[in-house]
Amino acid sequence: MPNELPNSTLVQPVADSVGVPVIAIVGATGAVGIELMHCLEKRDFPVGSLRLLASARSAGRSLAYGIHAVQVEELRDDSFAGVDVALFSAGASISRRYAPIAVAAGAMVVDNSSAFRMDADVPLVVPEVNGATLAGHRGIVANPNCVAAIMTMALAPLHRAVPIRRVHAATYQSASGAGAAAMEELRQATAAHLDGLPFEHKVLPHPYAFNLFSHNADVDGESGYNGEELKAVAETRRILDTPDLPIGITCVRVPVLRAHSIALSVEFERQVSPDEARAWLAAAPGVRVVDDRAANHFPMPSEASGVDDVLVGRIRTDLGDPSGRSIALFVSGDQLLKGAALNAVQILERLLGR
Ligand code: A2P
Repeated sequence: MPNELPNSTLVQPVADSVGVPVIAIVGATGAVGIELMHCLEKRDFPVGSLRLLASARSAGRSLAYGIHAVQVEELRDDSFAGVDVALFSAGASISRRYAPIAVAAGAMVVDNSSAFRMDADVPLVVPEVNGATLAGHRGIVANPNCVAAIMTMALAPLHRAVPIRRVHAATYQSASGAGAAAMEELRQATAAHLDGLPFEHKVLPHPYAFNLFSHNADVDGESGYNGEELKAVAETRRILDTPDLPIGITCVRVPVLRAHSIALSVEFERQVSPDEARAWLAAAPGVRVVDDRAANHFPMPSEASGVDDVLVGRIRTDLGDPSGRSIALFVSGDQLLKGAALNAVQILERLLGR
């Protein structure tokens, strides 16, 4: 755990400062929780005081926030007294139970779980795409599923220019989406594989080193779609405000640590040239076009990792659509950043008018 400090480390606690928000991170020890701290720090977000909340297992551990050591506390019903903003990333059941408690205590909640994403009175927000919907929040704002956040960053600039009629997506998803333990399992499984040692996987359902498999979310017996695919479709439609947009998707877990990639085919209402699509994407905030045909250099998870922008490239006419109305693209975005923590902090910045 990179933020972990020995308990003996002598550093100051984060001091309470008047008028600057008291921020709680629920799930602070998780992959997204750690990244939330990095994002707040990197973006120089004003933090009056920081409360790090996790399970009883982590209570008493110290995590670094800049020069400060902050002790992790066990999440409890009374954890939110005096908290202005609570960032949740400890799974849907924790959010369902504790987010209303945080709101009742006077906190504004940005929730990274799936608990409230389809609730009509909870905005589901990617700030660059539908930031205006934040105005309707009633205490809770939902941070989208990572595929939906990264995919809508690429789709929205296109859809704004010419309406999209259909999307087909295939994902290449990293370990980080399944949490810190899955990232560690990928590291250990890879090391064991290279050393020729047996490895017993415990976090993910299949061997991960030098392998890939259909996303580990439960599969709906009737439709054959898994939970990740269903979330990505429903949330993409909601964020783009296109409730009936036909979207086909196949979600796959690949042995990459922290960036998701997506192959997209996008059908428009009229013919669109690759140059038009490239220009619309190049002008979009938070998107970086990586599309060098001569060098065969396109978006890669290795270059998207640790990067705020979503990388988009391989922009070409989809020859699978004889009408000429479809464009194919390849997208890579950091699952922990735009797919989770960065988007949550950007939501907060908008809410607080920063
Ligand atoms: P802990 O580390 O104490 O288990 P990830 O998505 O990387 O797996 O992280 C999940 C986060 O959710 C961790 O910070 C984890 O804390 C936290 N968490 C899990 N279960 C609980 C719980 N019952 N109460 C509070 N936090 C929890």
